[in-house]
Amino acid sequence: MSHPSAFWDRIAKRYAKSPVADEAAYRHKLEVTRQYFTPDTRVLEFACGTGTTAIEHAPIVGHYLATDFSAGMLEIARSRGAGVDNLAFEQATLEQLPGKACFDVILGMSILHLVDDLDDTLAQVHRLLVADGVFVSSTICMSDRHGWFRLVGPIGHRLGLFPRVRMFSRDQLEERIQAAGFHIDYRYQPSPGKAVFIVARRVAREN
Ligand SMILES: C[S@@+](CC[C@H](N)C(=O)[O-])C[C@H]1O[C@@H](n2cnc3c(N)ncnc32)[C@H](O)[C@@H]1O
Repeated sequence: MSHPSAFWDRIAKRYAKSPVADEAAYRHKLEVTRQYFTPDTRVLEFACGTGTTAIEHAPIVGHYLATDFSAGMLEIARSRGAGVDNLAFEQATLEQLPGKACFDVILGMSILHLVDDLDDTLAQVHRLLVADGVFVSSTICMSDRHGWFRLVGPIGHRLGLFPRVRMFSRDQLEERIQAAGFHIDYRYQPSPGKAVFIVARRVAREN
């Protein structure tokens, strides 16, 4: 079986051309995220895709590292972000980033429903954030309004039409984020079934 990044390599050019689905909601998420930035903020965005959000935010922070595991997505991101001095792109998963507590803000946009192990991803974010750091995410919670995907998803995945998508509800997502050692500061969902935007602040883990 091919590596999961092969799917994203294959669709990278098409993904780069697709417009943002809900421009008003996207702008709102950018604005809210910026309230957590200062000119010194060190930001990590994992699964940055073709770099759209990274290029929006990088000019107003101290340093912005944007990572993804797909070489195809990163090639487009690098060419788009070429003029932005404090923006670096790196091919990596969260587990491959060494050390701890080196970022003030971490973004994971349209990714938590795609990762193999949600709890491990949240633990990695916790490891890499400073005490009191902030985790910003936007996630489709498929169980809430897209239950039908439980049947269609695996078939589409086998045919190479979709990536593997995890099914969970908004309540389950919030519960996992809190259990991973975060306090939820802000929630926004433009309408039922749309991606859930969450800003969560790092607190000490219970276990
Ligand atoms: C739906 S796209 C979202 C891209 C971007 N964050 C956005 O909002 O447009 C998902 C991205 O996650 C990347 N990705 C998926 N699983 C990943 C993983 N385990 N580690 C790193 N990147 C991953 C894919 O290569 C793809 O670029």
